[in-house]
Amino acid sequence: MIPLLDLAQRQSGGWLPVAAMNKVAQICEVAPVRVYEVASFYTMFNRTPVGKYFIQLCGTTPCMICGSNDIRQTIEKHLGIKNGETTSDGLFTLLEVECLGACANAPMVQLNDDYYECLTPKTTIELLEACKKGTPPPMGKWGSLPMNGQVSCEGPKGKTTLTWKEPIVPKVDPDRFKGGEVDPASVKKHMAY
Ligand code: FES
Repeated sequence: MIPLLDLAQRQSGGWLPVAAMNKVAQICEVAPVRVYEVASFYTMFNRTPVGKYFIQLCGTTPCMICGSNDIRQTIEKHLGIKNGETTSDGLFTLLEVECLGACANAPMVQLNDDYYECLTPKTTIELLEACKKGTPPPMGKWGSLPMNGQVSCEGPKGKTTLTWKEPIVPKVDPDRFKGGEVDPASVKKHMAY
């Protein structure tokens, strides 16, 4: 159901009209209320229209400690909207949400599908202005963009762990899997159940 709701939301311009939820219920052969329950539980689903750029600002503890309040105030002041509102031109919606899983690069926002991390008030404004021009910065090599120039979650010293060049392939004793047969009893013993 969730992938279908996600697809329906994308096809509906970033939110889920009741008609779209009813269609998902029909496809899944469940009562519409089952779909409404899911759509109203997860914050990834919007039940009212959102702007072209849907800004989800993480306000959970690591981001808060690293300055998410400053980022929220910067966005609110720069766009003239409060948390939960959409700009009059329909370009931006701001919503403060809980942890988005990028705590190592706090503070951060999710802009539609993309993560912009290590934000400062200055880079936040740069990001908003780029969006106004229709050219938000592309994601970096690892699928997010730390706005301070670092690569992924690397600290100021760069990469300090997992520095080997070749992948380490664990050695497997071929006798353990002779003939492709697995002895369920030995598996149970190995797994301690
Ligand atoms: S606390 Fe902000 S991404 Fe986890």
